[in-house]
Amino acid sequence: MARSFFSSGALSPALALTSASPPPHPNSSTVSISTQSHSTRLHFTTRPALETPAINGAAARVYVVSDLHTDYPENMSWLKSLPYHNGGQNVLLVAGDVAETYQNFLESMSILRDKFDRVFFVPGNHDLWLRRDKIDYLGSLDKLDKLLDACQKLGVETKPSIVGGLGIIPLYSWYHESFDEERDITGIRIPSLAMACKDYHVCRWPDELKNGETSLALYFDSLNDENSGLVEDILKKCTHIISFSHFVPRQELCPEKRMLFYPNLPKVIGSKYLEKRIRAIYGTEGRQSTCHVFGHTHFCWDAVHDGIRYVQAPLAYPRERKRRMNGGEDWLPFCIYSSGDFTERLSPCYWSDYYSVNPRTPDVTQLAPWVARFYSKV
Ligand SMILES: [Fe+2]
Repeated sequence: MARSFFSSGALSPALALTSASPPPHPNSSTVSISTQSHSTRLHFTTRPALETPAINGAAARVYVVSDLHTDYPENMSWLKSLPYHNGGQNVLLVAGDVAETYQNFLESMSILRDKFDRVFFVPGNHDLWLRRDKIDYLGSLDKLDKLLDACQKLGVETKPSIVGGLGIIPLYSWYHESFDEERDITGIRIPSLAMACKDYHVCRWPDELKNGETSLALYFDSLNDENSGLVEDILKKCTHIISFSHFVPRQELCPEKRMLFYPNLPKVIGSKYLEKRIRAIYGTEGRQSTCHVFGHTHFCWDAVHDGIRYVQAPLAYPRERKRRMNGGEDWLPFCIYSSGDFTERLSPCYWSDYYSVNPRTPDVTQLAPWVARFYSKV
């Protein structure tokens, strides 16, 4: 199966100025879902949730993808044209940012449930946007509840589970600005986070939670507590484990600021609490045969840090995908686990390949040429 894409063109979801463009470089039944605050009943054809087949761990295949953004018609078409991966052995992990609207989310997840034997999901920021939905949500947490209810009805899994011998751990997260600990770029006019990142305007939180502050990151992290028993069970029983989140757990999983069209991108992508939770699962030195999958920045990534493999395989926006090899036309979810073991590295991954041979030097703040051209000096 062709795995060809070019990860250099990176645009962050929800951010207007974030691209780091480096040099050239069947058995079906109808599931009905209604919302309390909206009388529309949506009908989708999907496999019943209880029909989830037993899967032999050694035969299971696990695919990963993030940032589907199916509000773009091109991405929804891509989803509809995905080949069927049925037969009781194929699992898809969706690492957030499926769609902005509830209707597109339902349609997307319904399609994926039909195409894969089991589907797991964690929410991303776009999934909790409120601006285009006709539903009168109380806020983004209310929308989160409705998305999770929809997942349950569709048979999309959101809790840790063992698939044969493989442990799968979805992790909730949200970013906080203090995640960024590297030196800021100065001397250029960088748009504010509120200007560049729509989350500050189109998500709505209770008064005690603020976008970009640790309060919101801690709130999402705390949602994982209720699954600690399931995680403990996985740690006892499984030698192979995959965890996954939408947001970024370590700053090294994003290019340095001088490489980014929006140099403050690291302030709206990641959570230290997420990495802490990952380390609570795998240990500070990591654990063999484990992997963490993430999304959000739209950079393809595959790298090992402190004994844990970190992978991002985003579908991303149509314009970003076009910059990949072959125009991104044959891009498919990345098969990360097959025949009882993890697969070879995702390739090509422009930036993680770059950092595999070049040291990270965040104290260097001279802009990369493609970024410098973008900004006028103050
Ligand atoms: Fe995102």
